[in-house]
Amino acid sequence: MKTLLVHYTPRNEMSNTKRMVDAFRSQIKNSEVEELNLSRDNPDFFLEDNLAAYIQRNYLGKDLTQDQKKSIAKMDRMTEQIRSADVVVVAYPMYNFSMPALVKAWFDSVMLKGKTWDTKDGTYVGLMQGKKALVLVASGGFYGKEPMTSREHALSLGKIEFQFMGYSDVRGILAEGMGAGEEHKMSSLEKSINQVQKIAQEWYANTKPA
Ligand SMILES: Cc1cc2nc3c(=O)[nH]c(=O)nc-3n(C[C@H](O)[C@H](O)[C@H](O)COP(=O)(O)O)c2cc1C
Repeated sequence: MKTLLVHYTPRNEMSNTKRMVDAFRSQIKNSEVEELNLSRDNPDFFLEDNLAAYIQRNYLGKDLTQDQKKSIAKMDRMTEQIRSADVVVVAYPMYNFSMPALVKAWFDSVMLKGKTWDTKDGTYVGLMQGKKALVLVASGGFYGKEPMTSREHALSLGKIEFQFMGYSDVRGILAEGMGAGEEHKMSSLEKSINQVQKIAQEWYANTKPA
């Protein structure tokens, strides 16, 4: 069994998001663990060459030249990494009501047609059935009431991406109010950390040593 921890936590030890990742990691049992730190190992953006290569290969079924293969190699590496994991945790702060650009670039890198999703008889099929995904987000504000609820595109988008890829169990936790003063922040963060640990305990409860 393999667990992949993907995180964008450029504030490192200051990061509220990182505390949730650490809480999950502390409860992992009987699993190989791999980490991808997106602020150090940056995913590529789709640009002219790699987008052309992606369409040629994954939509049109054409062979790629060596240069084309090279242009999409990092996306392929990240895609193989997520495909190899049974449990994926993705953690990031909310930036401007959504996910940070590097996190979106990672989703763009791994959501490759024919690899994590496909089309069949005119409908979309996720190829990652049987796997679990957890999205962890920290935000400065609170999103429980309108008009803020409709502005929350960080956690909701992360969950949609995993649902689209066919993950069987998709959970999400929003640690809100990280900018609301020390007392509010600590109680919200502690609550989220407890939820993170509960999910990890549930997911690894019946795992056996390899
Ligand atoms: C560039 C930037 C944009 C942000 N945008 C939002 C936002 O749109 N909504 C919000 O509630 N918080 C926003 N925040 C606050 C962060 O989500 C919050 O401080 C969070 O705890 C940061 O995560 P970290 O502690 O893991 O670094 C923003 C912070 C930064 C640095």
